[in-house]
Amino acid sequence: MTPIAPPVPLMQSPPGAETVIDGVRYLYFAGTGYLGLAGHPEVIEAACDATRRYGVHSATSRSGFGHNPVTLEVEREAAAFFGMETAFYYSSGYVTNHMAVQALAASAGALFVDAAAHFCIEEAARLAGRAVIRFRHRDPGHLAETLGDHLRPGQQPLVLSDGVFALTGAVAPLREYVRALASHAPAALVVDDAHGWGVLGEQGRGSLEHLGLWTATVNADAAADGVKLFVGGTLAKALGGFGGVIPGSRSWVDAVRAASHYYDGASAPPCAAAGASARALAIVRRHPELRRRLQANIRQLRAGLGGLGLEIGDSPAAQVGVSIGDATNMRRIHETLKTRGILVPYIAAYSGSGQAGLLRFAVCATHTPGMISRLLDELRRVL
Ligand SMILES: Cc1ncc(COP(=O)(O)O)c(C=O)c1O
Repeated sequence: MTPIAPPVPLMQSPPGAETVIDGVRYLYFAGTGYLGLAGHPEVIEAACDATRRYGVHSATSRSGFGHNPVTLEVEREAAAFFGMETAFYYSSGYVTNHMAVQALAASAGALFVDAAAHFCIEEAARLAGRAVIRFRHRDPGHLAETLGDHLRPGQQPLVLSDGVFALTGAVAPLREYVRALASHAPAALVVDDAHGWGVLGEQGRGSLEHLGLWTATVNADAAADGVKLFVGGTLAKALGGFGGVIPGSRSWVDAVRAASHYYDGASAPPCAAAGASARALAIVRRHPELRRRLQANIRQLRAGLGGLGLEIGDSPAAQVGVSIGDATNMRRIHETLKTRGILVPYIAAYSGSGQAGLLRFAVCATHTPGMISRLLDELRRVL
């Protein structure tokens, strides 16, 4: 029998520490707006201002008909945030991997994908027209084994993974992947850092920075120890805007634009999205204390969940997927917390959710210590 899907909630306020859903204001420990910028007055004003000046959007693709100033502003801001020469801004982070893979597939003999990778990585790999081999989730030993088993002489491997996994918050062991790939050089590793950007690393540049892999060769189409590292992601999560970004050297960004047709054949993101994104990136750069507040909240949440005896793994990410008994029990916890004004989603089926699903806790920079304590107190009562 097909399970009946629960009704999709109606969000009636910007997502934030408190969010109105189906007419009720909840303490909201969900979503991906980790820096709490989606409802920031300056970001909203920038979205309105861009729309007033330039209209809803440019109503065509950029290469033949022209850029608008606010799209270019996002690209300048993103390049500055990532400390790179330039950036490409497009309508959805979902297509990031598709674009990167299109730019790299010609030289790749086979693609190796984490078995719990996000849907968009999985789809990008399938569309590449190359053999796709899945390795066990976050298992560099198994990656090394599959590289040995599946690569024919002279074939180059292309590995794809999330930097931080959407549901669990686990960080991919990217250093170990690079090590495994070095003996199959030349090789490439593409990381979707949708959930790492803005959260991890000294400057918020994500999982590569956190793991000490942020070097001049990243997104420069240049190898270190025979391995080229590429990263892309979305502005629609911690970074507080909307749309996807690939930052990089001029030559890598040109190669991405040339290999896919998102530049030639798709409209640029709406001006409101671009205005919001440019302003949000500027705020993130100007206010590193936002990230420090988020990191303090992450520590409080994770220490609290661990203190309740829950298995939370070892990660500095803003979301934690926790398995507590079976699906019925997790639904009960979700529903009970909801009656007490706290929203923690139970995710039954998503990339990496496993058979029983998970309760997914997410914290943002605008939660107060008191809000997190309240969640932990209520959770203790319902466990
Ligand atoms: C790992 C990952 N990549 C990409 C996306 C999609 O990004 P966007 O919403 O900008 O299309 C998501 C969204 O949930 C994600 O979790």
